[in-house]
Amino acid sequence: MRVRKVLDSRARWTVELDMKAHDRWVRASVPAGKSKGRHEAVSLPIDESLKRVERLKRSIVGRDFKDQKDFDRTLGHLAGERKEKLGVDLTLAASIAFYKLRRRRIISLPTPMFNVINGGLHAGNFLAVQEFMVVPRKFERFSEKLEAGVRIYLALKEKLEKRFGRGATNVGDEGGFAPPLEKTEEALGLLEEVVGELGLLDRVSLSIDCAASSYFDGKAYAMDGRKMDRGEYIDHLSMLAKDFHLFSVEDPLHEEDFEGFAEFLSKVDSRVVGDDLTVTSIDRVLRAHNARSVNAVLIKPNQVGTVSEAEEVMRFCDRMGWTWIISHRSGETTDPFIARFAAFNGAPFIKAGAPARGERVSKYNELLRMEELL
Ligand code: PGA
Ligand code: ZN
Repeated sequence: MRVRKVLDSRARWTVELDMKAHDRWVRASVPAGKSKGRHEAVSLPIDESLKRVERLKRSIVGRDFKDQKDFDRTLGHLAGERKEKLGVDLTLAASIAFYKLRRRRIISLPTPMFNVINGGLHAGNFLAVQEFMVVPRKFERFSEKLEAGVRIYLALKEKLEKRFGRGATNVGDEGGFAPPLEKTEEALGLLEEVVGELGLLDRVSLSIDCAASSYFDGKAYAMDGRKMDRGEYIDHLSMLAKDFHLFSVEDPLHEEDFEGFAEFLSKVDSRVVGDDLTVTSIDRVLRAHNARSVNAVLIKPNQVGTVSEAEEVMRFCDRMGWTWIISHRSGETTDPFIARFAAFNGAPFIKAGAPARGERVSKYNELLRMEELL
């Protein structure tokens, strides 16, 4: 096993780990979020992570593990409940590398959710909502969905440039444009216009990730030039969800408000997705289930620290009839792991940013390659 530090897409050092078994080397690196949930597993500074490599080696090198669960259990004992003793980056890099050593079968390819307009903490504009996504749902093949995403992305670029000048096509952390818009409605309207002009309205849905903790100050939600209390805000957001037939709304309320999520869910037809709320933790997901807060869950392996724990949450969602979305982080590497993880688990959806920038397209391109094998 070898471990080193490498850079992610935001000039942050992260862990890259090489692992060898039966004369075959595999490599894994891990991403990092910016709009992180308070209950995510613990990330350590890179030098602290590297100091723990010897401890990790002593527990795994030369040992035989029955399967992924067995390996991840050992990692869990070593790392602690919130992965604080090894740090989530080192823990997950080892778990992913082990996962890559096994040959697996593709179950199905996910529908991509392309984040084409960036706001919130991911962009330097005034949009409160963090992600505006297009979801090409009604196409047969992954490659057709990808083509649709590309056409929308490029048409949006042209429109932004014409309407606001070239500065409007600068991109945010996930490769989506960061135009000088202020209102949620303007961004959704623009997307609807572009999708309509391409004649794709009946095949492509819109989705948003509010990441609402980032504009909640403990009392009010600041959005669209207003400060709203919880009730006003839920009314406002559910109206937007209805007006634009949003397929899904992620983190509509701040990350501790299980009841607010439930109230919002009861008012809309959209999928209501937990991300910062549920942090890929089975305990938080069960709480969301008891409170009827969500009917969909985001799966981010680095919120929890091992592949097996992420899979446990997926299986729970399947049993509940909930949808689930495998997700990248805003600070990514070019490791295409989540694409393969999605295909091997039959994920309904994947969220990996815009169809642009190397660290985003590495995932989409991997899915294209996998389509050849079907
Ligand atoms: P993050 O954002 O990677 O910065 O946490 C992604 C998301 O909120 O879905
Ligand atoms: Zn999110």
